[in-house]
Amino acid sequence: MPLARALYVSRPALDSSASFDEMIASILSVSRARNEREGVTGSLLASQSCFIQTIEGDAAVVSATMGRIERDIRHHSLKRFEDEFIEERIFGEWSMFFGRIEQIDPIVVQVFSDTGTLDPFQMDRQQLLTSLCAGALFPVDRATTLHLDRIQRPTKALDLQHRLAQLALGDTLVLSAAEIEEAFFYERTPEGCRAAATALAELYQCRFVVCGPDGSQVGFIRKGG
Ligand SMILES: Cc1cc2nc3c(=O)[nH]c(=O)nc-3n(C[C@H](O)[C@H](O)[C@H](O)COP(=O)(O)O)c2cc1C
Repeated sequence: MPLARALYVSRPALDSSASFDEMIASILSVSRARNEREGVTGSLLASQSCFIQTIEGDAAVVSATMGRIERDIRHHSLKRFEDEFIEERIFGEWSMFFGRIEQIDPIVVQVFSDTGTLDPFQMDRQQLLTSLCAGALFPVDRATTLHLDRIQRPTKALDLQHRLAQLALGDTLVLSAAEIEEAFFYERTPEGCRAAATALAELYQCRFVVCGPDGSQVGFIRKGG
């Protein structure tokens, strides 16, 4: 069965009967359950004015899923790129990764936009895919140009972001320093890694602490309020 990827951008249809967050929650619960059953994986980034989504899976299933998504009245102005056949999934471990467009690494935003704000409708396929990866946590080697073929598998980084997103108020996630280095493999120094981890912690309203003998462990503590 050939593997394919679909990619599109659209605009959320804001409906006064449900908040934006409720709409996202309901989209994700249905999508994740169904994608899991059908072997579909992917990533959805959202803001109040835009969705960016890619889905990957068996070509026929991707096409059927996109058919349903295109008919969904919770968004409009959908601009779809031609499906492409792929060798490998980017989001193989995610029935549907979810991130906020505001979370995209500022370095990517700077490269893709003169104004400091991304306009996904003006972006090409590669820029959108890079953003989907960057929304899924900065897996872009800053020392190279932002080409997808330079992006290594973002699994560790995705996993870390996912775990931070799950932390309840007051909870702490403890990891080894080596795990952090793997997640931020593109940082050249331990200081760079710590700075990246601190920035990520901030995004998820966590405090980042270095602990353990010789700084061998780090903690993310979810702050209150
Ligand atoms: C932005 C957005 C993303 C969606 N992503 C998916 C998805 O990845 N997989 C999926 O099965 N449905 C997704 N849906 C939901 C489908 O549009 C549809 O509601 C769902 O598949 C159930 O279809 P059915 O009621 O025809 O069975 C998405 C909807 C929106 C608005």
